[in-house]
Amino acid sequence: MRITMIGTGYVGLTTGVCFAELGHSVMCLDTNKEKIDLLKNGVCPIFEEGLESLIEKNSATGRLSFVTSYAEAIPCADVVFFCVDTPPGEYGKANLTNLLAAASECAHHLDGYTVLVNKSTAPVGTAKKIQNAVRNINPTASFDIASNPEFLAEGSAIRNFLEPDRIIVGTENEKTATMLKLVYAPLIEQGRNFLSVTIPSAELIKYASNSFLAMKVSFINEIADFCELVGADVSDIAHGMGLDTRIGSKFLQASIGFGGSCFGKDVHALVMRGQEEGYEFRMIKALIAVNELRYLTVIKKLKKHLGPLQGKTVAVLGLAYKAGTDDVRDAQTLRIILDLLDHAVIVRAYDPQAMENFKKIFRRSDEVTFAQSAQSASDGADALLILTEWNEFKSIDLADIKTNMSGTLIVDGRNIFERKTAEVAGFTYEGIGT
Ligand code: UGA
Repeated sequence: MRITMIGTGYVGLTTGVCFAELGHSVMCLDTNKEKIDLLKNGVCPIFEEGLESLIEKNSATGRLSFVTSYAEAIPCADVVFFCVDTPPGEYGKANLTNLLAAASECAHHLDGYTVLVNKSTAPVGTAKKIQNAVRNINPTASFDIASNPEFLAEGSAIRNFLEPDRIIVGTENEKTATMLKLVYAPLIEQGRNFLSVTIPSAELIKYASNSFLAMKVSFINEIADFCELVGADVSDIAHGMGLDTRIGSKFLQASIGFGGSCFGKDVHALVMRGQEEGYEFRMIKALIAVNELRYLTVIKKLKKHLGPLQGKTVAVLGLAYKAGTDDVRDAQTLRIILDLLDHAVIVRAYDPQAMENFKKIFRRSDEVTFAQSAQSASDGADALLILTEWNEFKSIDLADIKTNMSGTLIVDGRNIFERKTAEVAGFTYEGIGT
């Protein structure tokens, strides 16, 4: 099949490359020439395990190409996927400007029957808006509209695509569903779940899924705080709960709170979409409220042991919103470091992948010292503050790192160390819910 992806962000690029890997002929379209030039030269503009080698491999076969022109990418396509960013707009409402602009531009170039699929995360009703935008520009165009939400998590996006738990498509007729079945045929043949539903249902499955996962995280974080009051250990609670297959063990890792470009944006957008219908999402509002105050947990723990924080040196290990990515969008690390700077803390930060992105996005990055290793970040520090669960940090020799520090405190926002191990190495250990 001939597929065009509009947008080469995390989702568009990974999905396009994986469609080529499945054997389709794929054009990835982006109006950002700089990005397309990099991709044409085999350079992946984002850090995602395995992506660059798949770009190289599929470009070499001729199945994968990168273009900047709608005129080149649209007329030849059987299926067009919209993977355009939908950033938070006013009051957290999804901003559809870029998506609808892409739809209008695409409309000018449609030639022959085409299936237009929205993959951008956008509230219920968005596929209809795309359909109307295209119809307004090109009333005689032959096309059907569909929704095909993505469930790729950064750091494991390729595996998530090639080994999906489910493929969801929302369509208005059998013909469109059949076309999308052909797109995903190699995965369906492997026995992967393919669920064909109406468009509003597909659109809502995405929001309900992300909100549910975010709720699990806020739930276990709330339990973690209570564990500390009653001497329980949240990892035992999560383990015990997770053994019940109705609950499941995933997304019960207590933490500094969820971050990233998806959960926060999507839960707010769902609440706003509810408001448009006069509907109040009370549970989702509660999970947001829990997460919003989450960054304070580690600050309180630092204060508990260091007293007033002014002038203290804290080695921050981890800036990415989770391990396996260089992404810092909406990361809790941004809030935590801002608060540390407001307390006049001397911040020495290290992350194996995300320092460049952090410098770009964090408005006070000139007040942060960026180190080249965990070891050098912790030189002379009063405390170690772990914010991202990188494997590199899990293998730190604590006894060794302590020799260069002035203090003996670890605040482990990801519970990557055992309390006992830290204490044997001479540290005072503060985890989350332990
Ligand atoms: C999330 C979903 O997992 C994907 O299925 C979805 O496709 C994607 O959003 C999206 O909408 O595009 P992602 O944001 O990449 O993926 O990362 P997650 O692994 O879901 O983690 C989100 C946040 O929750 C991270 O900050 C992570 O550290 C935190 N988290 C996750 C916890 O604090 N505890 C957990 O047990 C799990």
